[in-house]
Amino acid sequence: MTTQYDAIVLGAGAAGLFCAATAGQRGRRVLLIDHAPEPGRKIVISGGGRCNFTNVHTAPDRYLSGNPHFAKSALSRYTAADFLALVESHGIAWHEKTLGQLFCDGSARQIVTMLLEECAKGGVTLRCGEAVGEVEHVDGLYRVRHGAHEASAPALVIATGGPSIPKMGATGFAYDLARKFGLKVVQPRPALVPLTLPGDEALFRELSGVSTEIVARCGKTAFREAALFTHRGLSGPAILQISSYWKRGDTVTAQFLPDRADGWLRELKRERPRLSFRKALGDGLPERLAEALCARLGLEGELGALTDKALGAAEARLARWPFVPDGSEGFAKAEVTAGGIDTAELSSKTMEAKRAPGLYAIGEAVDVTGWLGGYNFQWAWASARAAGQAI
Ligand code: FDA
Repeated sequence: MTTQYDAIVLGAGAAGLFCAATAGQRGRRVLLIDHAPEPGRKIVISGGGRCNFTNVHTAPDRYLSGNPHFAKSALSRYTAADFLALVESHGIAWHEKTLGQLFCDGSARQIVTMLLEECAKGGVTLRCGEAVGEVEHVDGLYRVRHGAHEASAPALVIATGGPSIPKMGATGFAYDLARKFGLKVVQPRPALVPLTLPGDEALFRELSGVSTEIVARCGKTAFREAALFTHRGLSGPAILQISSYWKRGDTVTAQFLPDRADGWLRELKRERPRLSFRKALGDGLPERLAEALCARLGLEGELGALTDKALGAAEARLARWPFVPDGSEGFAKAEVTAGGIDTAELSSKTMEAKRAPGLYAIGEAVDVTGWLGGYNFQWAWASARAAGQAI
């Protein structure tokens, strides 16, 4: 027997839960299906268990997409302040950590509970632990097999996210379904992901665990945040951010000691000629990193014994230290997936597919990828709201 709904939402993650709640509260009969045993698993592990649920600096230029204008409409109609108002209406305590990032004071589970309560208010039927089988479009209705059941509705929302962190139940299902209905997919790639370094950078891999603030640059993009050396290469917020812009073969530069003005080593030589080069770097950098950089620069001894030319060259190198990553840690470690369902296929107002009426795509499944820091959840909420108001 086929159960009739007004809308079927595939994927009970951030976007799917919020979309189902929005549509349900508008009086739509909504079925929300997920193959995972419980909803919102990525929310639960997000932000170190406290969920960085939005960012007060949300703006379209903080998103990567084949069409940089696509996200504008949804983001302007459902803002960080709107989501914060919802969080507060559920009595969830929150704090701003850094760079406009808003986190729960308590557990990320509070956000899942809030979304489930919103779904309950809208009378949403939630089915977890059910594999989605065949999906067809017949006589203006989408028919979905799920577990041993079949449901149909005039609207179908793809909210199954991207393939990052497959062990959490993430799949490329959204792309398969989009292609089935004739929609193009921009090549998915891991984003917000640690980068790996080749063997000749082994010196840096020995620094595993060392962290320092840098400006990471790739092309014209730069982020000033902490970087972390790992046994495979580079991580930390600055590297995760720049990884979204990195392509194989690109150089990433690290500006160490980003507050030092041009000529700082030469100035220090005049002020404190007896100071060792290693100590000069060590004042502002972790000791192990200072040692590794000295070894790489091939400079040692007192500043007074080094030429201005050598110190000038060292300053320049420290300001643009080049790394050529040989890859990334891939979807297994990527916080999000860049690329996805091509925005050219979708209405930016409703998220409906232009060539498949009644089919919608939202959240990470779409080719819109935010910076680190709550931007990806804000896109999930905003795109979900846009679709939830349209279906
Ligand atoms: P999401 O992945 O949340 O949901 C997709 C759902 O679809 C899942 O429940 C999945 O089980 C289901 N599904 C997949 N395939 C299916 C299939 N074939 N059939 C049925 N169901 C299927 N962002 C942020 O803004 N702030 C943060 O603090 C963090 N922190 C963070 C930490 C970690 C470790 C990760 C991996 C990611 C983050 N993110 C984040 C990113 C954030 O989690 C991500 O952008 C959103 O969860 C995307 O929401 P979606 O609903 O689009 O996908």
